[in-house]
Amino acid sequence: MFIAVEGIDGSGKSTTITELERYIKSKNREVIVTAEPTTLQSGRIIRDFLDKKNVGTPLIHEMMALSFAADRINHLREIIWPALKKKRVVITDRYFFSSLAYQSLNISYEWVKGINRFAMMPDILVFIDVSLKTAMDRLNRFRNETEIYEQQDMLAQIDRNYKTVLNDFAERVKTIHLDGELKPSEIYGDIELKFSDVNF
Ligand code: ADP
Ligand code: TYD
Repeated sequence: MFIAVEGIDGSGKSTTITELERYIKSKNREVIVTAEPTTLQSGRIIRDFLDKKNVGTPLIHEMMALSFAADRINHLREIIWPALKKKRVVITDRYFFSSLAYQSLNISYEWVKGINRFAMMPDILVFIDVSLKTAMDRLNRFRNETEIYEQQDMLAQIDRNYKTVLNDFAERVKTIHLDGELKPSEIYGDIELKFSDVNF
């Protein structure tokens, strides 16, 4: 089973994924957690670009989009497919839905979709619903460095783009919405409730 977790920056993805991993382990399934951009060479190049030192410098957006897609091919080949073959449950923190929401800030949605056609559909898309205010508060409170996509007006547009993505894929992937406004101690209960009909 392949699960992609998505949400805007500050939605609490990492925190939620830790709880989801704990839940799946309680079902006696082996699970691996992985993320995009990856820790592979292709992902390290992207992280370097995303660093705050590049805020304000012109980015070649098509190159960024192609880099995320290239890293994704590596991710599937090197990490995701081998783990799925071993019957592990795979959770990825971000997947091609992120490219659709973030890279379509600057380039056409259809173009970004086109270069990601190779990416297999996950079995489940988990989307964390959070208000912009909560996300921004968390980013301001807990972070001392800001990546290039974490500024408020950009986050608002990314949030709108995610709505488009969710609509676009509503018929093609089982989507589970988690409540990103909950306290960390309440997240596990939300997962238990919303995953109760999922057969691991
Ligand atoms: P993301 O991976 O989406 O950027 P994180 O899980 O890293 O989000 O959370 C961003 C920050 O907000 C972290 O410092 C974390 O401690 C805090 N945080 C995450 N989830 C919650 C929550 N449910 N309630 C309060 N704070 C949270
Ligand atoms: P991530 O590490 O998830 O951010 P954080 O841990 O700070 O929440 O992702 C880094 C940034 O990369 C994030 O702002 C979203 C962006 N991103 C894209 O723009 N396109 C993509 O395809 C992916 C996977 C991430």
